[in-house]
Amino acid sequence: MRILLTGGAGYIGSHIAVELLNADHDVGIVDDLSNSSPIALQKVSSITGKSTDFFELDCRDTPGLTGVFRSFQPEAVIHLAGLKAVGESVEDPLRYYDTNINATLSLVHVMEQAGVTQLIFSSSATVYGDPEFLPLTEQARTGIGISNPYGWTKFMIEQILIDLATSQPSWKIALLRYFNPVGAHESGLIGEDPQGIPNNLMPFVAQVAAGRRDIIEVFGDDYDTNDGTGVRDYIHVMDLASGHLAALENLTPGVSTYNLGTGQGTSVLEIIHAFELACGHPLAYKISPRRLGDLPSTYCNADKARRELGWSPTRSLTQACHDSWLWQSTNPEGYST
Ligand code: NAD
Ligand code: UD1
Repeated sequence: MRILLTGGAGYIGSHIAVELLNADHDVGIVDDLSNSSPIALQKVSSITGKSTDFFELDCRDTPGLTGVFRSFQPEAVIHLAGLKAVGESVEDPLRYYDTNINATLSLVHVMEQAGVTQLIFSSSATVYGDPEFLPLTEQARTGIGISNPYGWTKFMIEQILIDLATSQPSWKIALLRYFNPVGAHESGLIGEDPQGIPNNLMPFVAQVAAGRRDIIEVFGDDYDTNDGTGVRDYIHVMDLASGHLAALENLTPGVSTYNLGTGQGTSVLEIIHAFELACGHPLAYKISPRRLGDLPSTYCNADKARRELGWSPTRSLTQACHDSWLWQSTNPEGYST
């Protein structure tokens, strides 16, 4: 198929691009490079021996996007483009609502004009807010207890896409609710390259392991969990990427929603210890106060994706730490190394 990947130069997008190219799809990428490097796409080509059609463009540029559709002629779209830093979204909510929502509206408008009605959207476990029960199934309520504008944009975009598919039965849409993506491609050529101080746990741990930062702050050790630290469902980014292929191959009319996670909860201390094994030395950490807005525990039930998409994750947390360390140790400054 001819597949347009928005946000394809980013962390998750570059790994999806590898999976799509390896499966012999033609891949077009739209990215404004606001949080990514074109070097990622060179590395995608080195891994796969194939190239993508790259369009440097903000998805909110509707005429520009119309031009991309004319020249690339996609049959389906995987939409990842958007802003994702939770704290930044609290400080500058309008930028988040504008970018994430208007990029999506612009995209579906252009898709509609072009008669392209197959869409996969990057949603997030954040839409579950305060989890109603654990493990989370797709039936759990959403929208209660979402603690930041970033999370609200995901919730709102899901609703926009549901309304669109209700009004026009030709649409086939998959909403993929990612849990916590970690790791890197096994080559170590592509990986997560956060700008500034990483907000997320795994890239922070990797930078401490590489000596780029001194100490890991563990946000809270008094939660009601196995060791008192926060529990999450960490999924290898290549497993997440293969979930997009499975969703693409199984698109059905209307909107289908899938959790993409492992179903396993892992604590912060367990992550640190798993990473110590991967990097081969102890990591300095200290217990700090809880981070505002954090949940004690969240992990999913991913049976629906297994049943309906034939997808399940195959890579372990050990593998994710190993791959993350390979990427970090061979590219200590990310793509600017
Ligand atoms: P990322 O920042 O690495 O990738 C997003 C890409 O979109 C970047 O390359 C950026 O330059 C591009 N972009 C941003 N705004 C754009 C715009 N208006 N037009 C065109 N391109 C634009 O982030 P990621 O971790 O790869 O996340 C990809 C998607 O997955 C995002 O939608 C994110 O919200 C979602 N998601 C990520 C996580 C996570 O933990 N990483 C979890 C759940 C959901
Ligand atoms: C965060 C976002 C979530 C977003 C996701 C992916 C918040 C409240 N939630 O999820 O909306 O979808 O990232 O981008 O920001 N931790 C530490 N020390 C650190 C960093 C994290 O102890 O330096 C802990 C956290 O308290 C948490 C766990 O590690 O228990 C995972 O944190 P993180 O990687 O930021 O992901 P989430 O909080 O799950």
